[in-house]
Amino acid sequence: MRLIILDDADVVAEWAARFVLQRVTQFAPGPGRHFVLGLPTGGTPLGMYRKLIQFHREGKISFKHVTTFNMDEYVGLPRDHPESYHYYMWNEFFRHVDIEPANAHVLDGNAPDLVAECQRFEDLIQQAGGVHLFIGGIGPDGHIAFNEPGSSLVSRTRVKTLAYDTLEANKRFFGNDISKVPRQALTVGVGTVMDAKEVMILITGVHKSLALAKAVEEGVNHMWTVSAFQQHAQTLFVCDEAATLELRVKTVKYFKALSEEHQKMIEGKPVDEQRVIH
Ligand code: F6R
Repeated sequence: MRLIILDDADVVAEWAARFVLQRVTQFAPGPGRHFVLGLPTGGTPLGMYRKLIQFHREGKISFKHVTTFNMDEYVGLPRDHPESYHYYMWNEFFRHVDIEPANAHVLDGNAPDLVAECQRFEDLIQQAGGVHLFIGGIGPDGHIAFNEPGSSLVSRTRVKTLAYDTLEANKRFFGNDISKVPRQALTVGVGTVMDAKEVMILITGVHKSLALAKAVEEGVNHMWTVSAFQQHAQTLFVCDEAATLELRVKTVKYFKALSEEHQKMIEGKPVDEQRVIH
């Protein structure tokens, strides 16, 4: 596990985008050789998407040979509803880059058979050869994707009923009316994300600081599903200063002492692996 502590949310966005740029560039995608990305929605990754769009316009990155899988989607929300994740991904990212729409996979929350839809999604990930880099965000209660507190840490893509905290947190997107927030979602499982070769979790803001502390400093606990990623060999937690408020001083000092190595990770320079903790 690596914890990368940066000044603020803007620096987190830039770091994350530059990390994606590095990974895609190093992989050198081409016909028949796709880089496979897992993607989140929400407020946290917006800055990263904007930076990636900028890099694309500057000719630094192409998504022509990139396949994506989104983490989740609400059940029963029309695809063109402004709060659907289809709408978000199309407007905030896909329509601004050169990805082939057929390679940009978002779960269909209106499928007639939701269980079959979840299996189809898992099968598509398998057919793509697995995810190279899964990017995630977390809620203040430590959920990753819609894996609410108490979710199985080996779960796969499935239908989930949302926790009250999540409905509360998301009502701001539905005119502050909790009754308008869909009660169910389709979501990748913790196990689905764990299967990725590398995982990068973005955490910003003081309201996520308890979740970060639970994720990093305490044991694996299904009530804080993000803590499962302690057991992934290649997890990066990328956070801002505000999100570190509940961490111990020694944890923060320890990881900040590695900031030079963390910088190299986005500059394409060799990293001293002995100085970076896995
Ligand atoms: C998004 C997702 C969620 C969000 C989390 C944080 O696809 O699966 O885990 O990442 O709820 O949302 P924001 O970034 O809006 O705080």
